[in-house]
Amino acid sequence: MRSLFFKIFLWFWLGIAVLSAMLVISAAWLRSRSTDQVRWRQRNELTVHLRAQRESGLLDRQGAQSVASDLGTLEQSDSTRDYIFEEGEREVLGQTIPPQIRSILPMFAESSQNGPQLFADGRIGGENVVGPSGRGYTFIVYFPARSAVPRSLLRFLFEDVGSEGVLRLLGVLVAAGFFCYWLARHITRPIDKLRSAARQIADEHLDVRVDPEVLEREDELADLGRDFDRMANRINSLVTAQRQLLIDVSHEFRSPLARLNIALGLARHEANPETFEHLDRIELETNRLNELIGQLLTLARANSGTDLQRKKVFDLGTLVQEVAADSNYEARSRNCTVKFNPGFECMVEGAPEMVRGAVENVVRNAVRHTAEGTEVEIALQCFDDTAKSCAVIHVRDHGPGVPNHELRRIFHPFHRVMDGARPENDGTGLGLAIAERTFQLYGGTVRASNSPEGGLVVTLELPAFDVARTSVD
Ligand SMILES: Nc1ncnc2c1ncn2[C@@H]1O[C@H](COP(=O)(O)OP(=O)(O)OP(=O)(O)O)[C@@H](O)[C@H]1O
Ligand SMILES: [Mg+2]
Repeated sequence: MRSLFFKIFLWFWLGIAVLSAMLVISAAWLRSRSTDQVRWRQRNELTVHLRAQRESGLLDRQGAQSVASDLGTLEQSDSTRDYIFEEGEREVLGQTIPPQIRSILPMFAESSQNGPQLFADGRIGGENVVGPSGRGYTFIVYFPARSAVPRSLLRFLFEDVGSEGVLRLLGVLVAAGFFCYWLARHITRPIDKLRSAARQIADEHLDVRVDPEVLEREDELADLGRDFDRMANRINSLVTAQRQLLIDVSHEFRSPLARLNIALGLARHEANPETFEHLDRIELETNRLNELIGQLLTLARANSGTDLQRKKVFDLGTLVQEVAADSNYEARSRNCTVKFNPGFECMVEGAPEMVRGAVENVVRNAVRHTAEGTEVEIALQCFDDTAKSCAVIHVRDHGPGVPNHELRRIFHPFHRVMDGARPENDGTGLGLAIAERTFQLYGGTVRASNSPEGGLVVTLELPAFDVARTSVD
């Protein structure tokens, strides 16, 4: 069970349930013990009273012998010891008097109370009684210790806890259920909100902040929310500064590079044949630098989102067809072909030249990495679901693919896979980063996977523009 909500709910609820069950059961047990005690005392009092009446009558009418034999039978059945006194301390049956009984005898002599009395926690009972002859006796019974009546758990639950106790317990459990639900929600709701904000920031929505509802609480979770917002602000400003620096540096490089190109042209006029080779090298490197700056500026544009304003609706099928045709031309130099079978319209929304650049980067990679004499396959699908309508492009090559642990990293700027399985790479490592940012800008995604038959499959997805839905809106 991973959910914190259920952990909090269940542990608190179970804790309350066990505690209240223990309370109800122990209260019922104590109640039943005291009821047993009261009943035992009442029974002893009744025994003393009945026996005193009966034996005093027997004594007066038939004498001590009959009383002794009658008491003998009674004592055998209930394990009591009975004493009968006349004129203070004279025991009528001639029995030895235990000190405990002797010590309470004076109390009876002084007592003016009628009826049975109990001493020593109910274990000794006695009564002053007057026989039919008019003679007064003190009758004392010594009872055995009270033994608890063993009872089955089920009987105890039915008789002592009873329906009232069970109802009370159920009431507490229902109330505890509501309370624990509220408590678990109170603790986990802000955590869910923090988690959702963290996830959005991880997806590069750097302007997302914690829900104000979390910040209004006056507890540690609100502090955590405030700290989270501070961190998000800091990350946002650092990333913005880094992107701005990239744009500024790229712009600053543009003018000296342009001047370098002019100087190169002039130098060529005055150069002699020996220096041509060096000038060619300078031109090549200048062109590479120019291209790198151009890509950096494209990445900065995709990151900044300025192209969002320039978006329009266009047919992705036509765009992919053009890219495939251009790339096919390039691929011929490696004896490869780029295959794409269009045939239907698939309208999407975005800045066409940016989307075109993104698709081109992916197809160019495929052409560059596919094995000689193989085919690069491009497929376009347009889904029009009620839940989600989207356009999906698959670009598949027959090259070495990318190690699984690098599949995410190839989308990081300047990341290139370096291993012996692939040719020397003179790219800048920006193509896929630009493709991913561009598609993200228009609500899409780009991901890579290795095909089980070998080669890399890059999947580009964009929300399809739903003409029907838009016109209804
Ligand atoms: N189809 C592919 N097959 C194998 N590896 C690929 C493929 N596409 C990309 N890669 C790997 O991913 C890395 C990053 O690709 P990316 O397009 O971002 O940069 P690049 O091609 O090296 O340079 P450029 O900026 O010129 O595109 C590449 O260097 C290459 O190692
Ligand atoms: Mg590339």
